[in-house]
Amino acid sequence: METAEHEKRIAAEAAAELVEDGMSVGLGTGSTVAFFLPALAVRGLDLRCAATSPRTESLAREVGLRIERFSAVEHLDIAVDGADQVAPDGWLVKGGGGAHTREKLVAATADRFVVIVDSTKLVPALHAPVPLELLSFGLASTVRRLAALGPVERRTGRTSPDGGVICDYRGPIGDPRWLAGALRAVAGVVDHGLFPPELVAEIVVGRGSRAERMRPGGGRW
Ligand code: A5P
Repeated sequence: METAEHEKRIAAEAAAELVEDGMSVGLGTGSTVAFFLPALAVRGLDLRCAATSPRTESLAREVGLRIERFSAVEHLDIAVDGADQVAPDGWLVKGGGGAHTREKLVAATADRFVVIVDSTKLVPALHAPVPLELLSFGLASTVRRLAALGPVERRTGRTSPDGGVICDYRGPIGDPRWLAGALRAVAGVVDHGLFPPELVAEIVVGRGSRAERMRPGGGRW
């Protein structure tokens, strides 16, 4: 197995150990989460899970995890998800798979949001692209308003699990908190892939053959 794939598995398996019997669990989306699902299922715990995408839902059901409709879930004990980039101050970029709106909602519903990544995701500072989900209604005007912040490219053939249009912001990031607010304030933007450190309880990094657990902002890379 390639190093990054091996590290994803290591991080996913370590995160599966953080889940306890009786918990409600948010399941993220992506190739790292694909390692987490069987690692969780094999523990044979009594769990109720909420999935952030149809793909995750179907993978989770295949390994025997019990999935509930998220619209009826008020609270989750824990959520586990991957990320595209993790900065030393704990800011994340997510949404490589176009599911970041759901992922943020599920993360915000959980008492503890755990991020699982291989070591290639650790970056000195966040950089473009930042995924965006836009309403298709009024799309051209939304893109025009976004152009005041920086270039935006549409991902061909990609929609979010809720039918939103997936684009990538390709301008400078600078202060992620400022950019997060500016992107969110544009009418027609459903959500962006910048996740603040206060949403994150813990980051589990697969590095070589070890899993390292760190708090957001405690990065040393
Ligand atoms: C899905 O929309 C994304 O936010 C993923 O969680 C993120 O892109 C990480 O994906 P991988 O685990 O496939 O790298």
